[in-house]
Amino acid sequence: MFPRARDPDVFPPTVSRWSVTIPEDADPAQMVAGVALPAALARATAKRKIQFFAGRLCALRAMERSAPASPVGAVLQDADGAPVWPAGLVGSISHDEGFATAAVASSDAARGIGVDIEPVMSREIAAEIAQIVAGEAETWRVAEAAGLDAAEALTLVFSMKESLFKALFPASRRHFDYLDCEVVRLDPGKRRFVLRFSPAFAAVFGAAEFAGRYELADGAARTGVLVARRNAP
Ligand SMILES: CC(C)(COP(=O)(O)OP(=O)(O)OC[C@H]1O[C@@H](n2cnc3c(N)ncnc32)[C@H](O)[C@@H]1OP(=O)(O)O)[C@@H](O)C(=O)NCCC(=O)NCCS
Repeated sequence: MFPRARDPDVFPPTVSRWSVTIPEDADPAQMVAGVALPAALARATAKRKIQFFAGRLCALRAMERSAPASPVGAVLQDADGAPVWPAGLVGSISHDEGFATAAVASSDAARGIGVDIEPVMSREIAAEIAQIVAGEAETWRVAEAAGLDAAEALTLVFSMKESLFKALFPASRRHFDYLDCEVVRLDPGKRRFVLRFSPAFAAVFGAAEFAGRYELADGAARTGVLVARRNAP
C-alpha cells in the first residue's frame, strides 16, 4: 500500500529509519497489519487516517531494522498525541500529504529523537508566520548561509524547531515557543545546524544547545535532531 521511499539523510547510521510515499489513491480502510487506529482519530479525515497508518508502518519497519531478532511492539499514542515507543527505544514520526518517515534509536544511546518534514511554504504563508517562528536576523542568517530564499529559510527554521520539540517533549513534557530557541549556527557543507535556548529553557532541558541535520529535497525541508544521552557507552 505504501511504497518504500528514500530516507531523509538527517541522522547518523546508528538511527534506524524507514520512509514511504503515500499514493494519492491510498485507502484508509486498508489497515496496516499490527496497527490500530486510536479512538481519538475515529472521526478524522481519510487523509489524516492514511497519514497515521503510513507513519505507523514506517515506525514498525524502523523498529524491525533496529532489532531484527526481537518481536516488534505497537507504537501507541499518548494524551498529548506523542508516540509511545516500546521500552528501550526512542523515536519520532513525520508525514505530509505524499510522504511519511520514522526514525528510531536505542534509549541507551539517545534521550530523544525528532524528525520533521515540512513542504516549503509559499511566500504568503511565510510572510504571515515569520514573526512567530523566528527573529528576522535568524531567518536572514539561515537564508544567507545556505543560499536560500526567505520562504525556504523560514520553512527550514520551522522544521528544525519542530524536530527539536519532538525530540524533547516525550521525556520532559515541556512545551516551548518557537522564539524560545534560535538557530545560532548553520553549516551548509555538512548540512548541520545548532539551536540555542534562552537560559530559562536551557535549565529545563539540561543543555543550552542542541544540534541537528537538515536537507532540502523534493520541495520540502527535512530535519532531524538526535539528543544523545550523556555518558552513553
Ligand atoms: C506535534 C507537532 C510537532 C507535529 O508536527 P507537524 O508538523 O504538525 O506534523 P508531523 O507530521 O511532522 O508530525 C506528526 C507526528 O508528530 C508526533 N507527535 C505529535 N505530538 C507530539 C509530541 N507532543 N511530542 C512528540 N511527537 C509528537 C506524532 O507521531 C505525529 O504523528 P501521528 O499523530 O500520526 O502519530 C506540532 O503539531 C506541534 O504541536 N508543535 C509544537 C507546538 C509548538 O508551538 N511548538 C513551538 C516550538 S516547536
